[in-house]
Amino acid sequence: MKIAVIGGTGLIGSKVVGQLQRLGHQVSALSRGHGVNVLTGVGLSSALTGAEIVINTIDARFPNPSEMSAFFVTAEINISRVNRAVGVTHYIALSVLGADRLALNAYYLAKLMQEDAIRTSGENYTILRSAPFFESLYAIIGDGARSDRLRLPPVHMQAIAADDVADALVCAALGPPFGEIIEVVGPESLRLTDLAAQIMAADEDPRGIVPDGAAEYLGTRLGNEELVSSKPWRIGGTRFEDWLRSSVAAA
Ligand SMILES: NC(=O)c1ccc[n+]([C@@H]2O[C@H](COP(=O)([O-])OP(=O)(O)OC[C@H]3O[C@@H](n4cnc5c(N)ncnc54)[C@H](OP(=O)(O)O)[C@@H]3O)[C@@H](O)[C@H]2O)c1
Repeated sequence: MKIAVIGGTGLIGSKVVGQLQRLGHQVSALSRGHGVNVLTGVGLSSALTGAEIVINTIDARFPNPSEMSAFFVTAEINISRVNRAVGVTHYIALSVLGADRLALNAYYLAKLMQEDAIRTSGENYTILRSAPFFESLYAIIGDGARSDRLRLPPVHMQAIAADDVADALVCAALGPPFGEIIEVVGPESLRLTDLAAQIMAADEDPRGIVPDGAAEYLGTRLGNEELVSSKPWRIGGTRFEDWLRSSVAAA
């Protein structure tokens, strides 16, 4: 099977590429370094010609909310146009759990707009929403670091290992298109404050944690259930404690 992974050099994309190669598929990893720019459309047509399945794991951050939305929506318009032209049979994109609930956050709103662009494109699609990656919790903890006490909202989340997200993406991509949004989460629902405490203990970080319902998560106030899935399609197998132990050992 010929499969293209747009964003195939990123955290999730590179894991997806590796897994598909081990399964014996013919995989191309696409990114700007490979001459493919989803924003301008440059290189997309030739890169996707012959691909049966296209997996989208792109990501980018912009300080300006309208640039953020424009990036994801323009990318989808360009990718969809080429997917249809070259006859892609399954297009699957990675999105974020909570995209529909956190529209006050510019990034989540941009991801929701990306999802809408896919759903209305007429393609045979699957959208896989993932819970926050374990790997991204370090950045979240860094965000709250303004003093020797870290204020974090004690919200529940079903964070997941990037390896498990890549597994789920590969599994969904190799099946028929769902034509809808499906969700993948980690095996436990843990409070952000407890996850942060475990990371800080492992790092011997002396700061204290102050649970604060008014503290922001990635710049946004959260309710308690916005990062929890009520009906996950798949649940990753890696427990946070085991992931943390092995990532500390590997460091
Ligand atoms: N972090 C989380 O906790 C989390 C949770 C749920 C879902 N997600 C979703 O997971 C997805 C993947 O995240 P990730 O952490 O794997 O991303 P990442 O490591 O930042 O990788 C992003 C990829 O996109 C490519 N890219 C960026 N701009 C591009 C452009 N204009 N044209 C072509 N390629 C471009 C990058 O390559 P170049 O820069 O070399 O072009 C890179 O390969 C994102 O869509 C994110 O919304 C993340």
